[in-house]
Amino acid sequence: MYPAILKNSTLHYFDDHSILLTDKDNYILNDVETYIIEKFNGHRSISEILKEIGKDLNTYNYSKIESVVMDFINNKSDFLVLNKTSQDMQVKTSGIKNAKVPINIIISLTNKCNLKCIHCFKNCSYQNNNHIPYETLINTLDFLKNKSISIQLTGGEPMLYDNFFNILSYCIDNFRTTVTTTGTLINEKNIKNFKGVNSVQLSLYSHNKNIHDSITRTPGSFRKTILAIKALSNMKIPLIIATIVTKSNINYIEDLIDTAYKCGANSIRFGTLIPYGRGTSLNSWILSEEETRYVELQLEKLSEKYKNKINVITWHKKKSNININSKYKALGCGGGLLSWCISETGIVKPCEFLEDTVHPIGNIKKTEIKDLIWKCNFQKMPEHLIKFEKELNKENTSVKNMCEEIQEYYLKYCSDNNVR
Ligand SMILES: C[S@@+](CC[C@H](N)C(=O)[O-])C[C@H]1O[C@@H](n2cnc3c(N)ncnc32)[C@H](O)[C@@H]1O
Repeated sequence: MYPAILKNSTLHYFDDHSILLTDKDNYILNDVETYIIEKFNGHRSISEILKEIGKDLNTYNYSKIESVVMDFINNKSDFLVLNKTSQDMQVKTSGIKNAKVPINIIISLTNKCNLKCIHCFKNCSYQNNNHIPYETLINTLDFLKNKSISIQLTGGEPMLYDNFFNILSYCIDNFRTTVTTTGTLINEKNIKNFKGVNSVQLSLYSHNKNIHDSITRTPGSFRKTILAIKALSNMKIPLIIATIVTKSNINYIEDLIDTAYKCGANSIRFGTLIPYGRGTSLNSWILSEEETRYVELQLEKLSEKYKNKINVITWHKKKSNININSKYKALGCGGGLLSWCISETGIVKPCEFLEDTVHPIGNIKKTEIKDLIWKCNFQKMPEHLIKFEKELNKENTSVKNMCEEIQEYYLKYCSDNNVR
């Protein structure tokens, strides 16, 4: 028998363990399991593997080795295959052993935007002009290639970044790439550059042109976004529509799903308002507990009704399914550990929703990303979040309203008893 790992999997080395990412699920493997699985390339038979391990460990006690390896094979049938013949099934690897290289990086290329969305947590506008210098960005990506797996390009409007298509092409060649955009700048000439992206996430706020345009505060934006959705769909590029459920569209969820489906989107993801930036004062957008429960039920129902047409991503499904080792005391979504965000100022931080000053890991304009990897930790995060919370409270909002993961983190690590 020739053991191998499920096709399309990636073994990401992370600190003293590894994370196996498969199409089915993700699995944390300890150091011994990581060592064993590295031997499973589809070419080596079980007896060859046992001999090799015996040689590595300088022992002929094969029965002990055999029991450990066979236990591993029997317990990990979820992601292992046993072939009768030898065949090349070498698993792809990423990360660095004994270093904490994130799996995913969200890069906000610029805070400039051609729309003026009423709710924007980043206060983006056409007057803003922070952007990551091209050279710095390319050097950063160059280090991350073959180490991180996926990149999400966002903004502001990422397409307003001067060298956007060069960066996009570099990312497509080296990472699983997602672009978050309004699509309003996509046209017949530039659309070909999106070929090869893993997905494009487009923001659409209503099935109704006037409502959408009143949220983006940009007449004509609905028409352009819809045209982009249709054009990308014609190119068979996987599309996710991102939208926000508010008090006023709660009864039009199905209309939006239907519009997204008819324009050719593959998925639609519903979020809620983050009361931050321009979103701080939009109290009328915040759902009550009762409304939240209603939306949850609606989404469950509609996800079933539309299951053969479009993937309706319910709130429950949205959560990260990568288990984070509790020893890191990290955010439950992996922010700051498995996923980093680089803001348009060059600041590396745990997540997009946290301001640059809250818990910066460093700045790629000053420190090379390879050096930041060693600096990343959560020791001071509780203290920093408490300080941030006090600032937010002055504006009548709270870190606890940002997202479930930050709320959970705050309650777990930032109460008086937990802060050291
Ligand atoms: C900041 S925008 C940047 C990318 C691009 N310009 C766009 O609009 O899709 C990324 C996403 O964040 C969402 N967003 C912005 N402010 C938000 C807030 N206060 N609450 C929830 N989502 C927000 C937008 O709706 C959009 O889908």
